[in-house]
Amino acid sequence: MADIEGVKETKNYYPEVPASHEGFHLKGAHQLDWGMRNRLSKIFRPSTGRTVMLAVDHGYFLGPTTGLERIDLTIVPLLAYADALMCTRGILRSSIPSTFPNGVVMRSSGGPSTLKELSNELLAVDIDDALRMNVSAMAVQVYIGGEFETQSVRNMTTLVDMGLRYGVPTMGVTAVGKELTRDARYLGLATRICAELGAQVVKTYYCAEGFERVTAGCPVPIVMAGGKKLPELEALTMAHNAVTQGAAGVDMGRNIFQSEAPAAMIQAVGKVVHELMPPAQAFDLYQTMKREQELAAARA
Ligand code: 5RP
Repeated sequence: MADIEGVKETKNYYPEVPASHEGFHLKGAHQLDWGMRNRLSKIFRPSTGRTVMLAVDHGYFLGPTTGLERIDLTIVPLLAYADALMCTRGILRSSIPSTFPNGVVMRSSGGPSTLKELSNELLAVDIDDALRMNVSAMAVQVYIGGEFETQSVRNMTTLVDMGLRYGVPTMGVTAVGKELTRDARYLGLATRICAELGAQVVKTYYCAEGFERVTAGCPVPIVMAGGKKLPELEALTMAHNAVTQGAAGVDMGRNIFQSEAPAAMIQAVGKVVHELMPPAQAFDLYQTMKREQELAAARA
């Protein structure tokens, strides 16, 4: 029997203080259920509403691409600087320490390799496994304008339905094939379709003209994909432009893990994303950290 001796009888219900109904730090998420918002808070920092997500899922269609040959050696040391990690379940189970405290966005579609038609994807993860792995979101490729457009949209809506059943958000990833233009008109179309059909987060590329229209037209948070490797200052500038034009952060891969100094680069990206540090200043910081790292390596 519970110990009921000495239970205090005096109570204070603070009747003069209205119950709080705080907003939420992400657009389009204020009416989601608690579990989903809790998961989103593991990806997007509540203090800034933005994320530095590290994308390392490339192997699901590219194999061991440069920088990802040994995830345990090159990526695990970067986890300390990532708000969230985007990876496949194979990499999560085999190579990522289960003590990683931040968000995991699990790549949940797949099928074709670079040797085949990439848009011919299917879902590649069951919700049971996503829950077993305690992921914060599931990611699915959406090929608007691609050969298997409808199939990829169906993959996304299936995932959205499964996710809603258990409070797991879905991130729609707008894929661009070689033949599709990455302009605001296309990206606006693709991101809006993902949001309209239920994705709670959308990942898309940056475009120099009209990106603020893409983010404004999408009722849920957009994270910017990095794309091909650029010189560090250019990549930092692109990240800065994206967040000042409405992106809720970045989901960058090659521009971090293929950098000459990945740990310095992800920290510089973090300064841009969370503190809106000007790109030139973030680049100085990157160079300083890179030099320090080289000196430390020379001394070792
Ligand atoms: C594939 C993906 C990748 O995770 C992502 O786009 C790769 O990141 P990056 O382009 O920054 O190397 O979603 O479509």
